[in-house]
Order: sequence, then C-alpha cells, then structure tokens
Amino acid sequence: MKILVTGGLGFIGSHTVVELQNVGFDVVIIDDLSNSSVEVIDGITTITNKKPLFEKLDLKIKSEVKDFFNRHNDIAGVIHFAASKAVGESVNDPLKYYENNINALIYVLQELTKLNKKNFIFSSSCTVYGQADELPITENAHVKPAESPYGNTKQIGEEIIRDTCRANGDVNAIALRYFNPIGAHPTAEIGELPVGVPQNLVPYITQTAIGIREKLSVFGGDYATRDGTCIRDYIHVVDLAKAHVVALQRLIGSKNDSNFEFFNLGTGTGSSVLEAIQSFEKVSGKKLKYQIEDRREGDVISAYAETSKANNILGWKTELTLDDAMASAWKWEQKIRNK
Ligand code: WQD
Repeated sequence: MKILVTGGLGFIGSHTVVELQNVGFDVVIIDDLSNSSVEVIDGITTITNKKPLFEKLDLKIKSEVKDFFNRHNDIAGVIHFAASKAVGESVNDPLKYYENNINALIYVLQELTKLNKKNFIFSSSCTVYGQADELPITENAHVKPAESPYGNTKQIGEEIIRDTCRANGDVNAIALRYFNPIGAHPTAEIGELPVGVPQNLVPYITQTAIGIREKLSVFGGDYATRDGTCIRDYIHVVDLAKAHVVALQRLIGSKNDSNFEFFNLGTGTGSSVLEAIQSFEKVSGKKLKYQIEDRREGDVISAYAETSKANNILGWKTELTLDDAMASAWKWEQKIRNK
C-alpha cells in the first residue's frame, strides 16, 4: 500500500516514514525543502534499506497538488506534516503561516476527496489547548483562543478537517495532538535539524553541550511549579512516529469509531526544564552551562497529557523515556558535528 507523507523530510515526518516502511508500507514523500534537506532520504534509506519516493513540490500551488494526485491516484492514506511550525516566527509573519498551513491543507484535502481510499492523519499540537485549566490535559479540555498564529492554524486545520468529514462520510481522519517531540532515531541516521538558532529546548541543550552555543537560557525560574521552571510532556520522536502508523492502520482497517477522531500523544508525565537538563547531564556525562533568565512571552506554565484515550482506544502508548530521548538527541548532535 502506498502512503503519501507530506513534510516527510522533516523531523517527525522522517521518523514516521521509517516506521511506515518498517511495517511494509510504500511511501511517497512530498517536501518543499524549506525547512529540511534532501540528504534525509539517505538517512531513511540507511535505516530501512528502502528508498522512499520523493517529489519536491510546493503544496501552496493548487495545480501542482492536483497534478501530483493525478499521477498517484493509488494512495491508500495521507499523513500531513507539511507546515511552518515556529511559534515566534508566526507572530511576526502570520500571513506566511495562514497561507502555508491552511492553503496547503485545503488543496491536499480537495484531492483526497477524489481518491478511492480517503484516509487522512493530521499533525496537530497540544498548543490548541493553550494553558489548560486542568492537568493532565484530556481531549475534552476546552480548546482556548490560540496564543499564536501557528497554534491558530492547528485549531483552524482541525475545524477544516472536521467540516470536510462531516460533508464527506467516506473521508476518515484522525488529528494527533503532539505534546513536545524530542530526541532522534537511535541509529543517529536521522534527527532534528533546526535551522539557525534553535527555538526549542532540546536542540538548544545539545548545541550548548557540543560547544555551538555558549550557554542555555532557562526562560523563567519563578513559575508556580515544583522547581520554578515550566513543565512539559517530552515525548520521544520514535514513539510519536509509531503512533502515526497505529492511527493510519486504524483507518485502513476501518476500526475508527467516527470519521473524525483526535488523540493526545504524550507520555503522561510532566518534566520541568531543570529536570530535562538533569536528564541530559545524566545520560551525556556533560555538565551543562545554563542561566535562569526572564520568562519567554507566550509560554504556558505546565502542559502534560492525559493518555488513556490514546492508550485504550487508539491502542498506543509510549515505550521510551526522557533519558532515552536525551541520549538519542546527544548521539545525533555528536554525529552531525562529527564528534
Ligand atoms: C519547552 C520549554 C521553554 C528553549 C513549542 C511549540 C509547540 C511545538 C513544540 C510545534 C519551555 C523552555 C526553551 C530555551 C528554555 N512545536 N526553553 N530555553 O514552547 O513547549 O512548544 O515547540 O508543534 O507547538 O509551542 O517547546 O522546546 O520551545 O520549550 O528555557 O532555549 O523549554 O520556556 O518552558 P514549547 P520549547
């Protein structure tokens, strides 16, 4: 069976392509290479010994999307990762985010509705919850006004998919609401490749440890948490990738309870920034240089998943730990810096 993975050369996309190939799916990747590199194909192929099909394509161009689907009308499912995802950038350049994240989704969905098999997995985010009123966060938590245009594109995206499924009973979709994806493939053949100064915590930690960054700024040490730093649910990217395969198989096997479902994907455990640093220091044997500084605008204090719906209904749970993720992230950083 052929599966389309848009954004398949990106961080989560590339790890998902590996897991799809590991269970026998054929994969075709669309990526515009705006935030990824074509060498990632070599990393995937080294791991699975199967080279995925790849087409460089801009999903914002409707005619290109139409042409692609005319040439690949045997697709059994689509996993849609392609999107811009930097929260800070989205605040400064909202129209780039609405154009890229919404138009591309619309054009892919329009072509999906013409396929024989209309199975769709959407890359969503716990960002849709904002600062949840209750922790851990369940799927019934109130979706609050987005804190950034990026988060708003995920909320709007889910609504577009919900309406499409309501209007097309034969379109089956699952939105996966990720918590904080971290780590890299244990082979260190693929991993996170942030462009420029990393916005996210873990690549900043590993770049500090390897000497690219002078020190890590811990954004805020006076929050009402156990150690004053923000709490997040850090999920190993390989566990996250496997959840996409389980969700796709759920739709292909018509095991879904309705034609639009959504699941939180997390470990169910919250870790503070200082605890994440301690985990890294333990697995790397490196002392990390960091300094507690001012809070970062827009940060929620604490977010971690209530995982029973994904565990009991989707039939998936995380197997890897924060230490596993930190160790894989460090191994990857050393590999790409040839150290
Ligand atoms: C985690 C914690 C920071 C960097 C974002 C998006 C989310 C998803 C994942 C796309 C926070 C602290 C960070 C640093 C720090 N992206 N931190 N120093 O903000 O929880 O989630 O990335 O889907 O949608 O919102 O992740 O890694 O940026 O921050 O202290 O140099 O680490 O304050 O508490 P975040 P993050």
